[in-house]
Amino acid sequence: MATKGKGGKKAQVRAGKASASKKTGAPADRSSSVGWKTAAGKVEPAKGKLGVMVVGLGAVATTMIAGVEAIRRGLASPVGSLTQMGTIRLGKRTDNKSPLIKDFVPLADLNDIVFTGWDIFEDNVYESAAHAEVLKPEILNQLKPYLETIKPMPAVFDRYYVKRLNGTHVKKGKNKLDLAQQVIEDIRAFKETVDRVVMIWCGSTEIFMEPAAVHQSIAAFERGLEKSDIAIAPSQIYAYAALKEGVPFANGAPNLTVDLPVMIELSKQNAAPICGKDFKTGQTFMKTVLAPAFKARMLGVKGWFSTNILGNRDGEVLDEPQSFRTKEESKLGSLEYIFQPEIYPELYKDIYHKIRINYYPPRGDEKEAWDNIDIFGWLGYPMQLKINFLCRDSILAAPIALDLVLFLDLAKRAPELRSIGIQEWLSFYLKSPQTPPGLYPEHDLFIQSMKLKNTLRHIMGADLITHLGLEYYD
Ligand SMILES: NC(=O)c1ccc[n+]([C@@H]2O[C@H](COP(=O)([O-])OP(=O)(O)OC[C@H]3O[C@@H](n4cnc5c(N)ncnc54)[C@H](O)[C@@H]3O)[C@@H](O)[C@H]2O)c1
Repeated sequence: MATKGKGGKKAQVRAGKASASKKTGAPADRSSSVGWKTAAGKVEPAKGKLGVMVVGLGAVATTMIAGVEAIRRGLASPVGSLTQMGTIRLGKRTDNKSPLIKDFVPLADLNDIVFTGWDIFEDNVYESAAHAEVLKPEILNQLKPYLETIKPMPAVFDRYYVKRLNGTHVKKGKNKLDLAQQVIEDIRAFKETVDRVVMIWCGSTEIFMEPAAVHQSIAAFERGLEKSDIAIAPSQIYAYAALKEGVPFANGAPNLTVDLPVMIELSKQNAAPICGKDFKTGQTFMKTVLAPAFKARMLGVKGWFSTNILGNRDGEVLDEPQSFRTKEESKLGSLEYIFQPEIYPELYKDIYHKIRINYYPPRGDEKEAWDNIDIFGWLGYPMQLKINFLCRDSILAAPIALDLVLFLDLAKRAPELRSIGIQEWLSFYLKSPQTPPGLYPEHDLFIQSMKLKNTLRHIMGADLITHLGLEYYD
């Protein structure tokens, strides 16, 4: 296990001052925040080391870890990361107060992050990153001594759930409960070396699964673990272990993992925040930008055809129909929710939405995506829009993974967020946002961005921003 902790006794994380200074731009006195609800309590400071446990040290994970180390050494900048580069406006436009988000809310500093993880292959992070071929050898070689120290712990894995992979670096146990207990032991050992822990799934996409009886309560799930119920996939075992230990959990894949009653219950019970699933990177990112634009202007849509070529290990896994189905379900949802065909049948009823992912090894991680969108305007006249996105999957996903880790750690330290379970304000990063039963998810990227920033303002006791702006015309 790769740990690089401060050692010694765990520092006590105490409630501290989150109010701020002129530098941060945060209100110095929360009680001065008028007209809006203020935070119920203070956000604890990010003291000491943040341990990040990554499940699956493949392309995304190694690109995140190597990237964080490159940034720490001043070799690169954190492009794509809202927590590192984003600002947040406070007060009126005329106040000219837009501090960096990381100066406004108490986020862990990149220098305080310690990584560890699990994988079904024994490769250390350097070897795995070299295999993924996302980052150039020049940069990887500079980081090699550090990356080589991060060696995966044996994973919880079963080929039944990811048919295209066959790893040997796996845990053995008499049943799934035993495997969960082993993951809990890994977490506890890591906790000894750091101050706080967050877990993120960057593992492969599992086969399509639906909630079963075993997922309906903690008691049912624990009985299911003991009986090694087939409805419990490895990703659920990691999530169970994390949430049981009070560790926030993010899911970068479309797997059925924390979107289950048992996990929501555990999340609330143990103050271990969870959020939706599946990093919103390439095509879906574009969809959740363009679809709101068409809808805002009341332009109709007849069809949306999306295809991809992708040659990395993720592409190979998704080439298998049952894993593809999990991904397809996650990708399909966004348009339906954004267009609200039940409210606008004339514009959006019966949209033909088709998604294809084609495994094409020569491309590696450098995915190419094509979208053809058939839209119609004034008097029903048809038009077309074509998008050709030549993106790099893991370059887009790595900053999202980092931000999710940092924000989940923040949520754990925020009295108003830590015990509510689902952190809907993190939907911004995810293809499948999670909401309580009966509440439809927000997919529109701009609503998601506003929700995220208002949540930060809210927990820090700053005024929310509605963009009404009438005060400028008094
Ligand atoms: N890159 C993107 O833009 C993007 C976007 C959305 C979602 N995702 C999802 O993120 C995940 C990671 O993507 P990637 O490109 O890094 O894939 P990858 O195949 O390079 O890495 C996945 C890693 O997980 C490991 N793994 C599989 N099952 C495991 C288990 N049970 N325990 C521990 N390790 C396990 C594999 O051995 C592999 O090293 C995939 O599920 C992918 O669908 C990626």
